[in-house]
Amino acid sequence: MSAKLIKGTEIREEILEEITAEVKEIKEKHGVVPGLVTILVGQNPASISYVTLKIKTANRVGFKEIQDNQSETVSEADLLALIDRYNNDDSINGILVQLPLPKHIDEKKVLNAIDPDKDVDGFHPVNVGRLMIGGDEVKFPPCTPAGIQEMIVRAGVETSGAEVVVVGRSNIVGKPIANMMLQKGPGANSTVTVVHTRTRDLAAHCLRADILIVAAGVPGLVKPEWIKPGACVIDVGVNRVGEKVSEKTGKKIAVLKGDVDFDAAREIAGAITPVPGGVGPMTITMLMKNTLKSLKFSLGLA
Ligand code: GUN
Repeated sequence: MSAKLIKGTEIREEILEEITAEVKEIKEKHGVVPGLVTILVGQNPASISYVTLKIKTANRVGFKEIQDNQSETVSEADLLALIDRYNNDDSINGILVQLPLPKHIDEKKVLNAIDPDKDVDGFHPVNVGRLMIGGDEVKFPPCTPAGIQEMIVRAGVETSGAEVVVVGRSNIVGKPIANMMLQKGPGANSTVTVVHTRTRDLAAHCLRADILIVAAGVPGLVKPEWIKPGACVIDVGVNRVGEKVSEKTGKKIAVLKGDVDFDAAREIAGAITPVPGGVGPMTITMLMKNTLKSLKFSLGLA
């Protein structure tokens, strides 16, 4: 039987509606809305398209939104001064510096300069530490892992006591999602294994997974025979494997493939995320959730 599809595009709509309603309520009661600034340095086409979507989504849910575009040649000192200005601006609850940054700028220095209480990406070491401690300490879980956990919960998949296998150990996805799934609390309490490029028998580990989360960046890495029948498979891979002409717009668009051999995996898994339309739409959605949360913290509502 074909697996149930866990569609990020549908879950996104549910969450954005929840956020919009909450923003409206806070505006009526407290006269303020969440403020998000997106800082883009240079003209990287992928970054431009991500930032454009972030701005569009922020507007849709009723946030105050500032798009701060800086030239490719902006100095590190000027960028740090800009961040300092937004750190001290009470109307701004979330500061996002789009990565990657040009080579002459120290990315770590820039991310560390963001006030941890406005770091809605969850990349600042303070927020990484808070995530590790878990529970009430967590302020801003990083957006892609938060989206993954939300999808698992909303798909009704039991996580308590489940064997979770995470393929990939990046700072942005693998390490944080592994940490989140092993914490005490709803949507977690799992037994977690992280596998990576040096793991001896990837297939054997994957085959044990009740929930298999794949963030390796290798198209089609996970084969159907690595999947336990009935497992929940979350494919975080977004690999550009070619180009095609869009039927809708007539423009050239990228052909995307996940880290899982989707067509075959679908026949074995109990639930699976598609690519595109799976985890992808969740990242920006959770950025909105974190920005709203930041305002709520500042108003004493969270
Ligand atoms: N570049 C690619 N993904 C991200 C992200 O989630 N946040 C930021 N700040 N930059 C990115």
